[in-house]
Amino acid sequence: MAQAEIGLIGLGVMGSNLALNIAEKGNRIAVFNRTVEVTRKFYAEAGELQGHIIPCETIEEFVAAIRPPRPIIIMIKAGDPVDQQMELLKPYLEKNDIMIDAGNANFRDTMRRFDNLKDSGLTFIGMGVSGGEEGARHGPSIMVGGTEDSWKRVEKVLTSIAAKYNGDPCVAWLGENGAGHFVKTIHNGIEYADMQMIAEIYGILRDGLKMSATEISDVFGAWNKGRLNSYLIEITEKVLKAADPITGQPMVDLILDKAGQKGTGKWSVIEAQNMGVPATGIEAAVAARSISSMKDEREAAEKVLGLPGGELKVADKAAFIKDLESALLAAKIGAYAQGFAVMSAASKEFGWNLPMPVIAKIWRAGCIIRSQFLDEITTAFTKDPDVANLIVTPAFAAMVKETDGALRRVVSAAVLAGLPVPALASALGYFDSYRRGRGTANVIQAQRDFFGAHGFDRTDGKDAHHGPWGSGAATF
Ligand code: 6PG
Repeated sequence: MAQAEIGLIGLGVMGSNLALNIAEKGNRIAVFNRTVEVTRKFYAEAGELQGHIIPCETIEEFVAAIRPPRPIIIMIKAGDPVDQQMELLKPYLEKNDIMIDAGNANFRDTMRRFDNLKDSGLTFIGMGVSGGEEGARHGPSIMVGGTEDSWKRVEKVLTSIAAKYNGDPCVAWLGENGAGHFVKTIHNGIEYADMQMIAEIYGILRDGLKMSATEISDVFGAWNKGRLNSYLIEITEKVLKAADPITGQPMVDLILDKAGQKGTGKWSVIEAQNMGVPATGIEAAVAARSISSMKDEREAAEKVLGLPGGELKVADKAAFIKDLESALLAAKIGAYAQGFAVMSAASKEFGWNLPMPVIAKIWRAGCIIRSQFLDEITTAFTKDPDVANLIVTPAFAAMVKETDGALRRVVSAAVLAGLPVPALASALGYFDSYRRGRGTANVIQAQRDFFGAHGFDRTDGKDAHHGPWGSGAATF
């Protein structure tokens, strides 16, 4: 068989599905897994795709099977295993060969790996892949970071396997070194916010309006036909409808309310904080997952403190459900605006030149946050790629003005009823702070000056940079 276009190491769930996708699109691929039996089983089950797959049992055989310069996808557990795999691979590689980490890596590791290879003649791509198992098999969204030359070597294969939105492939080269993994991290941060906001709305419907899982499923189903149309709303409708095969009860009612997290949400928040960019929706979502995991503490606290608030006061249920739909849209706008603002700051900080309209474009299909809404974001950033914030683009400003009243009503009602809505409320706080020309930080500046002589700027531009605080104040 002729040499493979690309190689892949790691035939776990994501790796094997990606390899089958690559083969199915007519590309030859060499595959290797540390445990030989896994490679044999994968090949045996590949059916008619076998003709495009070269199963390899040793690293030497694997490397020799790929056309140089060799792009090699490493799809294994993020972290140390990637460094170890790279070390094992390096002695067999030649000038211009490209190691591609397709896992959910911390972009700082990606930058380190990229830099470490700088004088070795080898290069590195950090590639964010979104879409889960199904996406990997039939079309993920792919975010690439590395040199432009290395991108050119893999462009054809990646374009062939990526999801398509109205024929546009959802893959792009986003910049050097950590750009791809950074964008994937923020994708996941937004994913956290989106999921948390959906969960809060579910909580209002379940605990406020006392609706059953099946009834709530119908609400999400109806919303999925409207402006909230998205993969996450679609799967929420489905999970709420599913019945437990053992008891026949709604499956969701039997799932413990403790959410896991593997780190990308937290990294999004840390990087946003590092750059001084508010990402309150993502912060609220990460914190909500952490609090969810404290199940025992929460149960104990409920016994001590009781549940706050009272009944959810709703005069017109149908109108309130309409409000919930608009509130979710408004809050979603806030979270996405923050995510894009974080990427825009990182682009400057790390010199990536991240193309905002392209990022929105490649998230329209294939990835977990795919939605119709991302097409609207694409249009807004295409018209104004350098805008300071998505919410001041004409289209999104209009949407915020149209929906934030509903968000205000929903958050108020939930707060009065004692229903937790940290992510929804964060969006409201963000809008209200961001749109207010005169804020309240003057008093913070005065306090800082009082106790620490930190100084302040005056509104009239005059020179006095310290206040007349008198006794007890810090001296300067
Ligand atoms: C994706 C997902 C995927 C994974 C998350 C889950 O884009 O396909 O984001 O990468 O499901 O990493 O993350 P948590 O386990 O932290 O929720």
